[in-house]
Amino acid sequence: MNYQEALELTSKYGQQHLLQYYDSLSDSEKASLLSQIEKLDFSLLSLLKENSGTQNRGAFEPLGALTVDEIEENRSEYERLGFEALKEEKVAAVLLAGGMGTRLGFDKPKGMYNVGETRELYIFECLINNILDVVRVTGHYMYLLVMTSELNHEDTVNFFREKEYFGYDPDYVRFFVQDTAPCVGYDGKILLEEKGKIAVSPNGNGGWFTSLAKAGLLDLLNAHGVEYISVFGVDNVCQRINDPAYVGAMLKSGRDVTAKVVRKADPNERVGVLCLEDGRPSIVEYYEMTDDMIHLKDENGNLLYNFGVILNYLFRLDRLTEIMNDQIPVHIVEKKIPCLDGNGELQKPESPNGYKFEYLVLDMIHLLSSCLPYEVVREREFAPIKNRTGVDSVESARALLVENGVTL
Ligand code: UTP
Repeated sequence: MNYQEALELTSKYGQQHLLQYYDSLSDSEKASLLSQIEKLDFSLLSLLKENSGTQNRGAFEPLGALTVDEIEENRSEYERLGFEALKEEKVAAVLLAGGMGTRLGFDKPKGMYNVGETRELYIFECLINNILDVVRVTGHYMYLLVMTSELNHEDTVNFFREKEYFGYDPDYVRFFVQDTAPCVGYDGKILLEEKGKIAVSPNGNGGWFTSLAKAGLLDLLNAHGVEYISVFGVDNVCQRINDPAYVGAMLKSGRDVTAKVVRKADPNERVGVLCLEDGRPSIVEYYEMTDDMIHLKDENGNLLYNFGVILNYLFRLDRLTEIMNDQIPVHIVEKKIPCLDGNGELQKPESPNGYKFEYLVLDMIHLLSSCLPYEVVREREFAPIKNRTGVDSVESARALLVENGVTL
């Protein structure tokens, strides 16, 4: 794209200010700015006007889970089914590692954080160890696709290489970069981070499927005969990934997706709860729940909206491919976005100053027709690292790792 074309394109959307410093840039900065403009998804801007990023919610109903007791009763059958699929290499996993991890306040990719105390033990390493547990019992590797962002891709790939993939077979690992979306001020103008650099951010944890497909990895999975694909966050160092019983329960259920869930620690716990919305699987956020919903109980005294999601899902790849051809909604989220002010000076705002566009995994769940909530024991599988200390922190995760026999 040349300057004239960029000017026409930006003018069409009222964004010609993106070129205001063009003349002051070096040749390479000019070329870079033009290529950033060429890649921008301007269609997102229309959502701001329509405000169609906000969703109207339907009627919620509880959705019961396959409980830990039920899983134990059927474990041998589930494991047998799961083993078969894993041995035939029909299952793959996607690690979502494209987030900014701002709450942890660590300047490298979150997975590079060392949770060890007497030895090195990185978050990435914990996750790989958990998958290797499955590889060891099935005797087969599964494809592990690692989603990075433009901001952390190089560091992530180099780290895996340097650490020799923590013992995983590199032939079964692929990295792909998550798409970005522009950051926009309250006036609808796309923000500049530098005179030749547009402010963009990763497009949310639901951006993975499209980015994976763009990187040619959907073709790879299909060619390999993969039928089930799980996604999991980088935060949770204790989660089991595609363990045979989980995979087997999915197969046995015939549902489109399985979601690992934990029983709420208390009715007001701030987790998204799996339920039905207008008859389809859905996740209701804690702040969207009415008081009634929060406290409703069944005849045995259990909360009806009782199962919180932990960002660990297993999808049928064919069903996922179908729904991703439909339009997955975009959320418009207010954020603090560092950007140039009217004088071309970089400002780091203390409070939100604009919008980011995000796709969310939970919308994928809602587009599917059926979901199996699969209960896991919180003390075994839920140790998210969001903060340094306190709730969901390095401290709480370390305690749980130790409780589960991991030497730190
Ligand atoms: P979070 O919602 O915790 O976001 O991500 P975050 O960016 O990592 O952390 P904060 O909020 O800035 O502290 C949940 C999971 O989704 C991934 C993250 O890497 C994490 O595994 N994620 C999130 C992406 O891969 N891409 C995104 O755009 C957002």
